[in-house]
Amino acid sequence: MTKPILFSGMQPSADSLHLGNYVGALTNWVAMQDDFDPIYCVVNQHAITVPYDPAELLTRTRTTAAQFLAAGIDVERSALFVQSDVAAHAELNWVLGSITGYGEAARMTQFKDKSQRHGTEATNVGLFTYPILMAADILLYRTQVVPVGEDQRQHIELARTLAERFNSRFGETFVVPEAHIVAESAKVYDLQNPGAKMSKSAESDAGLLRVLDDPKVTAKKIMRAVTDADGEIRFDRAAKPGVSNLLTIYSVLANRPIADLEAEYAGRGYGELKKGLAEVVTEVFTPIRERTNELLGDPAELDRLLARGADRARERAEPTITAVYERVGF
Ligand code: ADP
Ligand code: NA
Repeated sequence: MTKPILFSGMQPSADSLHLGNYVGALTNWVAMQDDFDPIYCVVNQHAITVPYDPAELLTRTRTTAAQFLAAGIDVERSALFVQSDVAAHAELNWVLGSITGYGEAARMTQFKDKSQRHGTEATNVGLFTYPILMAADILLYRTQVVPVGEDQRQHIELARTLAERFNSRFGETFVVPEAHIVAESAKVYDLQNPGAKMSKSAESDAGLLRVLDDPKVTAKKIMRAVTDADGEIRFDRAAKPGVSNLLTIYSVLANRPIADLEAEYAGRGYGELKKGLAEVVTEVFTPIRERTNELLGDPAELDRLLARGADRARERAEPTITAVYERVGF
């Protein structure tokens, strides 16, 4: 049985992945290797559409890839590679740009949000055409399934529209991909501000648990997490967001039902819950951190793994870009 082809991308936009990325992306990527034929791409070309530092981008690209490998992306089953290593992304981007209406691109709401956030001075055309490059990323591999959050739905719609348009104008070439809205994977919240989701863009990093942080730093952040005054260890997202967040994290990482944890910690203090949680987080992050550091400390090995991923991706993109060039008259 051939498995459905799946494409997913991750921006190399931080020095370490955080717990939200771990539960919302990393663990899914690893699990999806069983049922899909995955193409996993560190999308560094997307990352230059906002202000950035080149040396830092290179480091972050390698660190992001290393963390995915360390967490269990298997290069035998997945093509894990860096976007700029496969020229066909940029080549297809240009062709798709030429069949995208200006007004159609202008309707993409993420551009409006992002350009407002970065200001007129920093807003470039690359940011505007970002969804077209994303369509190229997806269509290049005859992708059938794209796992995305609700916020990316509009971009997948554009990829589908462009695939259909190209097929009807130039002849059957692309597979029209399906969005696979990720089934409620757990959402984790900022430890200091449990009303907001844990994010690298938080004002302070005191509420952010990073995969590559020293376990002492992680433990300290957990011990200082915001809770409440009633002292009861019980899940109630509305009334007890801090404690509920700690229970969610514990439950996901230890793979135990929340009710189980409530029973175990009944009558005990928040300090004990936090201590238990710090141990669980350390247990999950330590092997990933150690393997990541090993890979970063052996650049030749990391280069070899990424070169292999790029070879696999290139091989699979080749027939698509060749057919596209032929059909458009190149
Ligand atoms: P950030 O919010 O830190 O900028 P990204 O937008 O880069 O994170 O998210 C990358 C991936 O990590 C996405 O798949 C997203 O669903 C997942 N993710 C990010 N934050 C969380 C969170 N707090 N809880 C669950 N998943 C998250
Ligand atoms: Na984000």
